[in-house]
Amino acid sequence: MAAASRLPDSWVLLALLLGRLALLGVGPVPARALHNVTAELFGAEAWGTLAAFGDLNSDKQTDLFVLRERNDLIVFLADQNAPYFKPKVNVSLKDCPSS
Ligand SMILES: *[C@@H]1O[C@H](CO)[C@@H](O)[C@H](O)[C@H]1NC(C)=O
Ligand SMILES: *[C@@H]1O[C@H](CO)[C@@H](O)[C@H](O)[C@H]1NC(C)=O
Repeated sequence: MAAASRLPDSWVLLALLLGRLALLGVGPVPARALHNVTAELFGAEAWGTLAAFGDLNSDKQTDLFVLRERNDLIVFLADQNAPYFKPKVNVSLKDCPSS
């Protein structure tokens, strides 16, 4: 539980940053209102450690690379519909050769 309670800070920060960017283009939210968009962006999947970001599938949307447990790499692909990041690629690092 210690690890789990430590992680949401980076998610909240990222969600706020991404949410602010997203909200610039859509929605009736007043320009100065802070709004928690974590659930809107990630649904119930907002846990793990954000390790990297980039455009994995060349759709010109930023995708997120998240580490979970000790061995799982989950790629959240950006999507046009909520939740705006969906866990689509799941690689267990246990499967990788270690040599
Ligand atoms: C934002 O929403 C998420 C998901 O509902 C929640 O876990 C988190 O505690 C909220 N953060 C704040 C600062 O309220
Ligand atoms: C990813 O794969 C691991 C091992 O197969 C599994 O335990 C985990 O639940 C999967 N996570 C997701 C988000 O699919």
